[in-house]
Amino acid sequence: MYKILAKRELAPQIVLMDVYAPRVAASARPGQFLIVIADEKGERIPLTVCDYDKERGTVTIVIQTIGASTLRIAQLGEGDSFLDFVGPLGMPSEFLEGDFNKKFLFVAGGLGAAPVYPQVKWLAEQGIAPHVIIGAKSADYLIFENEFRALTPNVHIATDDGSRGFHGLVTALLEKLVARGESFDEVIAIGPMVMMKFVALTTKKLNIKTIVSLNTLMVDGTGMCGACRVTVGGKTRFACVEGPEFDGHEVDFDEALRRQAMYKTIEDRRLAKERE
Ligand code: FES
Repeated sequence: MYKILAKRELAPQIVLMDVYAPRVAASARPGQFLIVIADEKGERIPLTVCDYDKERGTVTIVIQTIGASTLRIAQLGEGDSFLDFVGPLGMPSEFLEGDFNKKFLFVAGGLGAAPVYPQVKWLAEQGIAPHVIIGAKSADYLIFENEFRALTPNVHIATDDGSRGFHGLVTALLEKLVARGESFDEVIAIGPMVMMKFVALTTKKLNIKTIVSLNTLMVDGTGMCGACRVTVGGKTRFACVEGPEFDGHEVDFDEALRRQAMYKTIEDRRLAKERE
């Protein structure tokens, strides 16, 4: 059993949990994800790894209540345990093994700040201070701002309603940074699918390599069920084993968005039932 050692609310309907899972903590790397199961009736839910502590044997996860399954997880408290906690799954971020000595810009939309955090932390440990844009619909939904500021001086905030930082979308702030003379070798965008689509369109125009992390539907997480399939560069790829990170300029976002909308309708119905 995987015990929840700490739990706190980061924003409305967003909670963070430190879970005791020493085997996962020992091998987790930035970019990877987990599949968790709350209890016997629970579904398999994919969650990105937000942090890990090999000494304490803990893995940090962040959950947003967007459907019946995530609501069930968010209702667990300190001292409760997950029935299963499978991982790490997927490929670690490409830059861990490649050339990381370059100018990175991370674009973290909403909950996307959670998977961006371990990547920025890893780079900071190598002496790199990447730029980070944190985007949210309003100041209340900004997460990890202080954590990012502790790692790099280059943190930029954008809110849709202008309640903090730049008033507007992350893509407009990205263009503004470039227009004022910042140059980037690589953009890593993680957040809602539609945000990643528009970041990729913006960076294509600006000719900046872009990596996105696809939060597709996942079931088995082992490449067997096909639930996570996406089209990248005209080829079918499985996000769970070949991703979740892909070249943002090659992803068929419109297809990915259609598949996600289909699943969301089913989840909304389940959530409504659960709340009856
Ligand atoms: Fe089943 Fe990827 S989740 S193939």
